[in-house]
Amino acid sequence: MHKLTLTIALFGVLLMAGCRGTISDKPPIHINPNMDFQNKFDPQEANPFFADGRAMRLPVPGTVARGMLKEDTGFYLGRTEGGAYVQTLPIAVTTEVIRRGQQRYNIYCAVCHGRSGDGQGIIMTGGYGYTPAPSYHDDRLRGESDGYLYDVITNGVRNMPGYAQQIPVADRWAIVAYVRALQRSQNATEADIPASELASIEQGSTANIGGGRTGTAGSGTGQQAATDTTNTQ
Ligand code: HEC
Repeated sequence: MHKLTLTIALFGVLLMAGCRGTISDKPPIHINPNMDFQNKFDPQEANPFFADGRAMRLPVPGTVARGMLKEDTGFYLGRTEGGAYVQTLPIAVTTEVIRRGQQRYNIYCAVCHGRSGDGQGIIMTGGYGYTPAPSYHDDRLRGESDGYLYDVITNGVRNMPGYAQQIPVADRWAIVAYVRALQRSQNATEADIPASELASIEQGSTANIGGGRTGTAGSGTGQQAATDTTNTQ
């Protein structure tokens, strides 16, 4: 009895092994079809029912899908009704917005533009032959409107690709706010620093000179940026 079971099992194994690699023009057996095979049109398929022969239909003219009405041109396009770039951000700039912008900037822009916006990101310094990304710290870019910066992120500029597909509208504005913060940080004078902070900064810099690498230089926002990568999208 035992021998028989063994023989059958062995036979079964050989049978299955024998099937492997053989060619058949019949479709493989689909043991549990569930709803795998349905009568439906796939994207890009032809459909003779419509005059143009396409299964995919265009939206009905003059209709807007729920939640897709983009009337606020300042917010969505960075432009006024007349088509000019908005001068200032159409959102309220809070610490939270700037932090969000910092995080998104470090994800999407810093690879090329560098974390401080000096144009020295890894893509640029790695010798990959990419068109150099400019520094944000020149008078022309400092003088451009917020709407223009938003437009650069949305549609790209010359050799820079647009990021509309990757970055949602509100995040693009948060990045604009952060680019402004970077610009100020690299073009600041002592007068921009609150008196209360100034004392500790002066102390820190003396400590730095005396103690070399053990100073307080690493405790600023740079390190914050390095650890703050949680995706809250
Ligand atoms: C793949 C590299 C790359 C990434 C990523 C990138 N940029 Fe750029 N950016 C460039 C290059 C290259 C230029 C210069 C394009 C040219 O002059 O042809 C540029 C130009 C710019 C300019 C200057 C436009 C002008 O008027 O001269 C701004 C502002 C800018 N980028 C912002 C951003 C922001 C914000 C992000 C992130 C959302 C970003 N870039 C992401 C490569 C990049």
